[in-house]
Amino acid sequence: MHKLQAAITAVHGYAPDYILTNHELEALVDTNDEWITTRTGIKERRILKGEGTATSDLAVPAVNGLLEKRGISAEEIDLIIFCTTTPDMPFPATANILADKIGAKNAWGYDLQAACSGFVFGLATGAAFIESGKHQKVLVVGGDKMSSIIDYQDRATCIIFGDGCGCALLEPNTEGYGVIDSVLKSDGSGREFLNMKAGGSLRPATHQTIDAREHYAFQEGKTVFKFAVTNMANVAAEIMERNNLVANDVAWLVPHQANKRIIDATANRMGINEEKVVINIERYGNTTNGTIPLCLWEWESKFKKGDNIVLAAFGGGFTWGSLYLKWAY
Ligand code: UT7
Repeated sequence: MHKLQAAITAVHGYAPDYILTNHELEALVDTNDEWITTRTGIKERRILKGEGTATSDLAVPAVNGLLEKRGISAEEIDLIIFCTTTPDMPFPATANILADKIGAKNAWGYDLQAACSGFVFGLATGAAFIESGKHQKVLVVGGDKMSSIIDYQDRATCIIFGDGCGCALLEPNTEGYGVIDSVLKSDGSGREFLNMKAGGSLRPATHQTIDAREHYAFQEGKTVFKFAVTNMANVAAEIMERNNLVANDVAWLVPHQANKRIIDATANRMGINEEKVVINIERYGNTTNGTIPLCLWEWESKFKKGDNIVLAAFGGGFTWGSLYLKWAY
């Protein structure tokens, strides 16, 4: 018998129906399909339309699909970790709102804010609750309604982001499957390059902050790119070295989907062929906390029991991290 580990036992996802194409963006800002495709790899992204819809509405169908697949009821969930940068409200936590909407009456929960690294941080945190023996069923959700904080007059950001959500269920495993290791990092001095300037305690909402368009995501793309390309690759290489993995041992790299060029650089550094790299950025863009769980959901049928999978992410903060797991089913 192996030590107690946290295994992913089900994944699911949800992407809203509306497709925002590069061609549609050409009508909104000074950009073009060729520039977006070659610089980012993105062709289209999904947008959650409708008054009164929020990030939790992306999570409800994702989680209900997961529960049905696993054959369990929402009442069996012990803990919900909701990784998001676009909570329904500053408080209460979207984890609480989700629990109410799906009927997870016995769960406690909280939101985890680590921008695009959120889902990796969330899986590592959720795994610790399983490894400690404290909980049996931990639901880790990663989702964002990025369209709620995107300025569709800013070509530096509006071409990148989209809406979407995915989730994973963690359960105890003593057969050697599940989360083996993680490397998690942050550096708050990077906050000036990727942020939302107003709406927090530093700059509460005023007419002035609204006029200055400070309630939208801001990114200094070139600087973030430089940090992302180095750090995401470093942390993916570090987790391989720490666990004595060579490229042939890795079945899949599941990277955060921010830019196809960053993904390619990470895969090159790991020595991994393109066929082993999970990429859906062309269809969803950057869904922030949603990218990695959406990838897991879409590739679920290709994963085999025992596959070594490496997750890697980089995001605002700066935050970055990698996680190594053995697929359990
Ligand atoms: O997920 C969280 C972490 N985020 C990331 O990892 C994102 C990292 N950054 C990036 O992916 C890239 O920096 C971007 C995709 C955001 C931008 O690509 P870039 O190759 O760094 O472009 P750039 O900002 O250096 O701009 C190059 C040129 C500029 O024109 P000049 O000065 O060379 O004449 C820009 O004005 O492209 C211009 N440009 C655009 N042109 C058409 C910038 N945005 C656009 C646009 N359409 N949307």
